[in-house]
Amino acid sequence: MIEGYAVPDFISDFWHYYIAAITAAGILFSLWLLKSQSSVKPLAPGEQAELMHPVWDGDLQELNNPLPRWWMWMFYLLIVFGIVYLVIFPGMGKYAGMLGWSSAQEWQDEKTRVDAEFDKEFQPFAGQDLMAVAADPKAKEMGGHLFLTYCSQCHGSSGQGATGFPDLTDNKWLFGGAPDDVKASIVNGRVAEMPGGLAGDVQGAKEVANYVLLLGGKPHDAALAATGKEKFAACAGCHGEDGKGMKAAGFPDLTDDAWQYGGSEAAITESIVKGRKGGMPAQLEQLGENKVHLLAAYVWGLGGGQKPAPVAPPVPDAAAPAAAPAQ
Ligand code: HEC
Ligand code: HEC
Repeated sequence: MIEGYAVPDFISDFWHYYIAAITAAGILFSLWLLKSQSSVKPLAPGEQAELMHPVWDGDLQELNNPLPRWWMWMFYLLIVFGIVYLVIFPGMGKYAGMLGWSSAQEWQDEKTRVDAEFDKEFQPFAGQDLMAVAADPKAKEMGGHLFLTYCSQCHGSSGQGATGFPDLTDNKWLFGGAPDDVKASIVNGRVAEMPGGLAGDVQGAKEVANYVLLLGGKPHDAALAATGKEKFAACAGCHGEDGKGMKAAGFPDLTDDAWQYGGSEAAITESIVKGRKGGMPAQLEQLGENKVHLLAAYVWGLGGGQKPAPVAPPVPDAAAPAAAPAQ
């Protein structure tokens, strides 16, 4: 960036010179026009203006009066004003102007001021436990407004999701539904990708799709599922032998009823043939910690939020016998 120049919106310097030249030419032309008109002398007292020809409509005549001086001076002043303006403010191509004013900066300043004002409202909840924030009606209301502004375009106004965008109101989570997991999804964003073509052709994908339906205990074509079972080996590495997925890595559970891309045979086949890549943009940098905290509590409180995993000791019925050898 050149000192004294605004961040260039122009892709090449050509447009900078092009616009600056047109602006300067406009001013010079006005000056020349005024000058050429001021060479017509004002009328001396008692002198008659020249009568122009022809005469219209019987008696309509035009006199060649010189321009009034005050009127000319007003235009000279306007030109001076224009030049001073162009020195102080941006206008000559990408020259930023002496004051360095820019509409982008004005917007940024305004945003900083408003953010600081709102932050006073958000501040009391910062650092509070997410589940406690989720239970607070005022926090919920503010979280709802934030959600409508920043999240609804993808997740829907009530968080119900859409094809490709997960439902945030159910208790099925791609990346985990404990308070910290939900917050991490929002803070860092999430990207999960499945390559396409893993089951061979469309027929192969259809077979595996039926095996996926079988795993989930849903209506399926038994013959297709039988051949699909073998091909599911290509999937087990990510989705698990039982198809239950792996939350920590964002490999979805294929046996529940929560589908990001649809659970019909056709939709599952499409997922397998084409592959899938969902992208949730990271929010921390844009929104700041306080807003993200409120949003995490709001989303957690939409109905699907899960209790944080107990640290120790492990829940007795969750511990497999092999993991807890008898003393
Ligand atoms: C550009 C679209 C988009 C926007 C905007 C967006 N999200 Fe997402 N979000 C996604 C997608 C897509 C996923 C799933 C990512 C994947 O498939 O890997 C997701 C996933 C999530 C998850 C994890 C869900 C789970 O099942 O684990 C949470 C929580 C979430 N988003 C919350 C939010 C919040 C809160 C906002 C607003 C600040 C937001 N999202 C804005 C597209 C978006
Ligand atoms: C490299 C890891 C990986 C492999 C191998 C893999 N998947 Fe996936 N799969 C994913 C990820 C990650 C997603 C989620 C993509 C997203 O969030 O956008 C996914 C999504 C899906 C979905 C969409 C789920 C929904 O909620 O709509 C289906 C169906 C699916 N996989 C089936 C399969 C089948 C069948 C195979 C084997 C042919 C397979 N996957 C192989 C990682 C994998």
